[in-house]
Amino acid sequence: MPKTLTIFVCSNCQYKTPRWQGKCQNCGQWNTLEEQRQISNTKFQMSNAMAPVDLASLDVDQKPRIKTGIGEFDQVTGGGIVPGSLILLGGDPGIGKSTLALQLAMKIDAEVLYVSGEESVNQIKLRAHRINKDHRLNVLAEISLETVLASIADQHPELVIVDSIQTMYSEEVSGVAGGVSQVTNAVQQIMRLAKQNHISFIVIGHVTKEGYLAGPKTLEHMVDTVLYLEGERFAAFRILRCVKNRFGTTNEVGVFEMAGVGLVEVKNPSQLFLGEDSIKASGNIITSIVEGNRALLLEIQALTSVTNFGYPKRTTAGFDSNRLQLLTAILGKRAGLNLSNQDIYINVVGGLKIDEPAADLAVALAIVSSLKDVIIQDTVAVGELGLSGELRFVPNLEKRIIEAEKLGFKKIICPKTKITGKNKIEVIQVKTLTEAISKL
Ligand code: TYD
Ligand code: MG
Repeated sequence: MPKTLTIFVCSNCQYKTPRWQGKCQNCGQWNTLEEQRQISNTKFQMSNAMAPVDLASLDVDQKPRIKTGIGEFDQVTGGGIVPGSLILLGGDPGIGKSTLALQLAMKIDAEVLYVSGEESVNQIKLRAHRINKDHRLNVLAEISLETVLASIADQHPELVIVDSIQTMYSEEVSGVAGGVSQVTNAVQQIMRLAKQNHISFIVIGHVTKEGYLAGPKTLEHMVDTVLYLEGERFAAFRILRCVKNRFGTTNEVGVFEMAGVGLVEVKNPSQLFLGEDSIKASGNIITSIVEGNRALLLEIQALTSVTNFGYPKRTTAGFDSNRLQLLTAILGKRAGLNLSNQDIYINVVGGLKIDEPAADLAVALAIVSSLKDVIIQDTVAVGELGLSGELRFVPNLEKRIIEAEKLGFKKIICPKTKITGKNKIEVIQVKTLTEAISKL
């Protein structure tokens, strides 16, 4: 007779405790403990044994991936949706997950069922009308997991979109909708249906402020593919990133722009970030970062101004402020720049966040440019700075050079490495920060 065991699991950090408490002992959050029943069955019986399958004897006809018709999405998933797979699409509320899913549902050349627990059929109709005037789509507005699963099994579509997993509710499981037990159970049931009936699923999940996908991080382990839609709320661009993929690589990203007709694919992202109306002023310089497999050009702006009282300020938008402290120290010690009485502001134009050290050189040069009030024109700078002021190797340098050349820049300042291939752009290879400053 299996024993039932009741435990309480924190929906924030997954901490387990045998007794309910108001506050989680591990992460300190209030009201996050939820009841979960576990069946402990430690003894096994020989009569339950199963024979394994010999892979070599298996004959499978591999079904082709389903192309979605949205090029950027196909690229990120590694060539389309694998039949019978479960994709989790995460992102902050309001970032555009439902919009992307709806666009995909209307564009894909397959039988789709769009299950929504968030919006009514009328609301979906309005949104769909905005994106694509007249397109057929089967929609189900329902939150009961049992009803949804039964309808899917009955309709047997090729692709099901579930918007969102937090709204799916099962009578069989305790806990509130969106809680650990409900969400985990819903994904488990969907996964079983997907594998048994070869139906593909795109399941939408909200990310909480702390970055947890759908409450428990465990969801990410359960599904085949995890995609994140990211972006700043007030900037138009959106980046679709793959963080887990059982059927392909994870280093591709897709770039979209949120427009009046939904998300529009951006084929040339550098153009989106650079804009056309850049004015010529000191403190501005272009750098190149690599997102996934592609190089992007971005403008970095620095402003220095004399500190009026107290400590000098170091303020950044889109750049790590600790990194700025470090670069300021290097500029002071290795390039002899006196920044101790200067406030420094750094801004990455376009709202993107840079976390690549390859932007070091550009930030340092932007500060020099603002301090000395010299304008830098048609120049791209890339390179990581070491503490002794040396310029370090950056990966994918050639990709960055080609991107700079493609967008019509005349010079690129970069670390010394071997570069094959001939370039029209002037490649200035330098060893140190001071050498780079002298080339301006
Ligand atoms: P939505 O897909 O509802 O976000 P999520 O499902 O991730 O919560 O997108 C919401 C935002 O997108 C909303 O603030 C308005 C904007 N939007 C556009 O700018 N253009 C459009 O064509 C659509 C449909 C939405
Ligand atoms: Mg939504």
